[in-house]
Order: sequence, then C-alpha cells, then structure tokens
Amino acid sequence: MGDDTVHFSELGLANTREMFAKAMAGGYAIPAYNFNNLEQLQAIITACAETGSPVIVQVSKGARDYADQTMLRYMAMGAVAMARKMGSNIPICLHLDHGDSFELCKSCVDSGFSSVMIDGSHLPYEENVKLTRQVVEYAHKFDVTVEGELGVLAGIEDEVSAEHSTYTRPEEVEDFVKKTGVDSLAISIGTSHGAYKFKAGQAVPPLRFDILEEIEKRIPGFPIVLHGASSVVQEYVELINKYGGKMEGAVGIPEEQLRRAATSAVCKINIDSDGRLVVTAKVREYLANNPGEFDPRKYLGAARKELVKLLKEKNATVLGSAGKA
Ligand code: G3H
Ligand code: 13P
Ligand code: ZN
Repeated sequence: MGDDTVHFSELGLANTREMFAKAMAGGYAIPAYNFNNLEQLQAIITACAETGSPVIVQVSKGARDYADQTMLRYMAMGAVAMARKMGSNIPICLHLDHGDSFELCKSCVDSGFSSVMIDGSHLPYEENVKLTRQVVEYAHKFDVTVEGELGVLAGIEDEVSAEHSTYTRPEEVEDFVKKTGVDSLAISIGTSHGAYKFKAGQAVPPLRFDILEEIEKRIPGFPIVLHGASSVVQEYVELINKYGGKMEGAVGIPEEQLRRAATSAVCKINIDSDGRLVVTAKVREYLANNPGEFDPRKYLGAARKELVKLLKEKNATVLGSAGKA
C-alpha cells in the first residue's frame, strides 16, 4: 500500500471472518450498526463494550462523505481505543455499507476499512458476479472481507409477494458464492430499508424463512446477512409524533422474526433506522421540554444515552450477541 494508505490492523480493527465463524457456531448474529457522527459511534461502542458484544460499525457512501473519509479513519481508531480504555477487548470491524463501485470499495480498503460490501444486486446476474469478483480479488490481498448481495430488497412501493422475483433466488447462491469468492452474502427475504417497511394498516407479512432455509441447504455454513432489519420501535415513533414530528405509519420487522433469523445462518443484522429514530425522538423531546437550551451536548447527550440503552437491549434480547466477544 502507498504512503497515504493504512491497513485495518494498524487501526486495531478486525475483519468479519472470525466473528462470523463464531456467530454461525453459536447461533447468534453480529450487530452491524450504521453511524454518521461522533455521538452515534460513542453509543455503539459503549453499548457493545458494556454488553461484551462483537460489533460491526458501518458507514454508507453518504455517511462516509458526511463524516469525511480522513476523519473516519481516526474515528475508527478512537473507537477501538475507547473500548480498550473501558477494559473491553471486543472485536470491532469497520465496514462499508452498500458500496456501489470497485473504486469506492478500493478506496475504503486503502483507507483502513476491514470489510466492504459491494452491492451489485441491481445489476444483471453476470455483471454482479464480475463486479463482486473484482472487489474480492483486490480486498482479499489485504485480508479485507467482502459482502455481496443477491436479490433486491423490497421497498414500500414494491409488492411483497412471491410473484415478484425481488427475493433472492436460492438456485443462484451456490454459483455466485463460488464464482465471486465473497465472505458473506446479503439476501432478500422480505425486509426493506427505512422506517416505512410495510404499508400502514397492512398486516405485517412474515419473513420468507422458507427461502432462507433453501439457501442454507445450498450453501451450508455460509454467513448470511440481513439488511433492512430495524424493528422501528413504536415508543420512539410515538415520541417523535408527540413532539412535533410527523411519522405516521412507520413500521418495521417484528423482533421475534429477527430473533429467529439470528439463530439461523444469518450472522450479520443491519440496523440503521432504529438508531436514527432514537436520536430524533430524544432531540425533539429534549428541545421541546427545554426551549431555552442551546448546548448541543445537552440534547445530543440525551440522544446518545437513550441510544446506548436501545443497542444494549438489542444485543441482549434480539441478536443474542451479548457476552459473545
Ligand atoms: O442501507 C442504507 C443505510 O440505511 C444507509 O442509508 O445512504 O442514507 O446513509 P444512507
Ligand atoms: P434499516 O433501515 O432497517 O435500519 O436497515 C439498515 C440497513 O440495511 C443498512 O444497510
Ligand atoms: Zn442495507
């Protein structure tokens, strides 16, 4: 690597290989929490250190631009140092979420990420294979692990039905994994991104565990990733609406479905929206109750404290990752 590049091991980070092997054997999932700013990262590290959970901290392309890629490298280093100062030896992975090009993935590998996702799920199959393979070939030279994706996650506008072949096709997974050399595979079985996963008033359709089982049969022991896995905790949606927000009809994946997924080959569960909701709810509440306050430490501090509480609960009662580091 060149002078301005850094390897993840120099930052004290870990890739996902051992994390996933242990999660697979232990029947739990590693939390993959998205962050954009200091307070979110502090909350994730605090919650995972205090619960003894391995953790993947992940940034999207947009989050990387927002936080600044140079700043991010030091934030990741700081996150590791903070955990160690707390007396915790939890493995911490810095992961690129939804990488959309070889260049972006390469840049993340070069700047200290220990894991990257190349999301070619919208491309025709052979193009997805080709792009994913290219990223794997580069990343593996530096022991950086790679997540690929097959199947397109449903959006609220999409019909969540079997006739729409947005679900992952189990007959493709073996070939994809073999041809690309990916370390994990994100699949589509009925989850979706954001806070409005299903139409308001619609009965929440269960996840397609039959598809997951078929995938597990075809690639036994291979780490599977679940995106769009926020449960959209209603307590926070209600707080947002109570204090001037407008988020009617926000609904997520029921926790018991996530619990079931965590015990399967699903080794990584992605959660972003739930973190956003907590922060927004607590900032709104704090400012509404303290209209004269203008110190960001006060309202962001309140948000950070509640985020720690939520993430600890998730590790302990949903992902099953608490105490597994
Ligand atoms: O899967 C997408 C993540 O929730 C990141 O979203 O692109 O708004 O940062 P973002
Ligand atoms: P949520 O929007 O359900 O939190 O999903 C996040 C995600 O999948 C990030 O890649
Ligand atoms: Zn995602």
